[in-house]
Amino acid sequence: MSSTTMVSSSYMPSAEDSFDKILLLYSGGLDTSCMIKWLQEQYGAEVITLTLDLGQGGIEAAREKALQLGVREAYVQDARQEFAQNYLAQEIQANGLYQDRYPLATALARPLMSQYAVEIAQEAGADAIAHGCTGKGNDQVRFEVSIAALAPQIKVLAPVRDWQLSREGEVAYAKAHGIPVQAGSPYSIDANLWGRSIECGMLEDPAQQPPAEIYELVTSPERAPDQPEYLEIQFEAGLPVALNQTSMGLVELIETLNRLAGGHGVGAIDMTEDRIVGLKSREIYECPAAVTLLSAHQELERFCCTIHENEFKPLVDRKWAELVYKGLWHDPLRDDLGAYIGRVNRKVNGKVRLKLYKGSVSIVGRQSENALYDHQLATYDEGQSFDQSASAGFIQIWGLPTRVAQQKMLQSLSSAPQAIGS
Ligand code: ARG
Repeated sequence: MSSTTMVSSSYMPSAEDSFDKILLLYSGGLDTSCMIKWLQEQYGAEVITLTLDLGQGGIEAAREKALQLGVREAYVQDARQEFAQNYLAQEIQANGLYQDRYPLATALARPLMSQYAVEIAQEAGADAIAHGCTGKGNDQVRFEVSIAALAPQIKVLAPVRDWQLSREGEVAYAKAHGIPVQAGSPYSIDANLWGRSIECGMLEDPAQQPPAEIYELVTSPERAPDQPEYLEIQFEAGLPVALNQTSMGLVELIETLNRLAGGHGVGAIDMTEDRIVGLKSREIYECPAAVTLLSAHQELERFCCTIHENEFKPLVDRKWAELVYKGLWHDPLRDDLGAYIGRVNRKVNGKVRLKLYKGSVSIVGRQSENALYDHQLATYDEGQSFDQSASAGFIQIWGLPTRVAQQKMLQSLSSAPQAIGS
């Protein structure tokens, strides 16, 4: 007899569902505000809300609004420190970019939000968690995979997938239920410490340049200062610890860099990306601190690592970023790759000097006690220690397989039977 292990399957909503208490991940926007009423009506449940500050601000206003809409408990929590320490720190050490460009701001926030949601749902005795994601995006996948991994007994509800309301229908629903409706922005925006993600509206035409009004963190290069600004970032074990010789915690350092680099037009990313659910989308990101920190970190890491590490780590980093993007923060592979990434970074200590100028960030200097750069070896000046005469023998051996292969090819060409009549 073979034994089987029961793993709870994922939850599908059905008409018979009833819940006593539902925890809603509440942003304060129109979708999740309508959701408070919709969940109460649909399931006859008590709805409680959770709003986290990950650097986007406005949590007190969200709390007020939730309470006004009749929620008995509206939890708010400043989770910026935890976001920085437990997520962004590894992101920096991993040089984390999805498809070589997106620094994963939204993707990194979702497992943390899921973790808080699970903790508070358990504490408050909620039997379901609801989120405001659509059925076309990545965030539904990230929330649902994370919550199921942490607490498989908690059901997850995604009302936007089920309620089939158009934008107009939603506005009508809101008005009928006394939910305040502000003049709607055509864009869908998600923001935190690590960046701002902007979608929808005219951005859905990938041929069109984004309008200037969508940017909040990044000044256009045309309006950025005409004088460059120089920065020095100090790293310890692959993490930034000081900016311009002033020690700073990670949260403050990221906030400061968003302001400084963003003011010089650094950090706007316009890309098309491949979503988990199979479609391509056009995305605009504003990530001044992320772009600056990742380029500085990557430079210092390369300076301290061997050629072999420098060829291998980007493969690990790429896989790490892909797992994070695809909602698999809680997969053991992400954790194991994170351990390798952290281990390599133990020696990444030193300083990087950067120049911010009209939309670009460039590395202008680096310094490290762990650098594998050896001036005596590298210099063409007097006193150099590299034995140039040894290169001739090295080249003989290095080129051996290529020489042999070329000779084989020539031989087989000259001994090939001649075509008739040639
Ligand atoms: N495409 C990005 C991601 O999947 C950003 C998603 C932004 N979400 C939003 N509601 N605007 O991580």
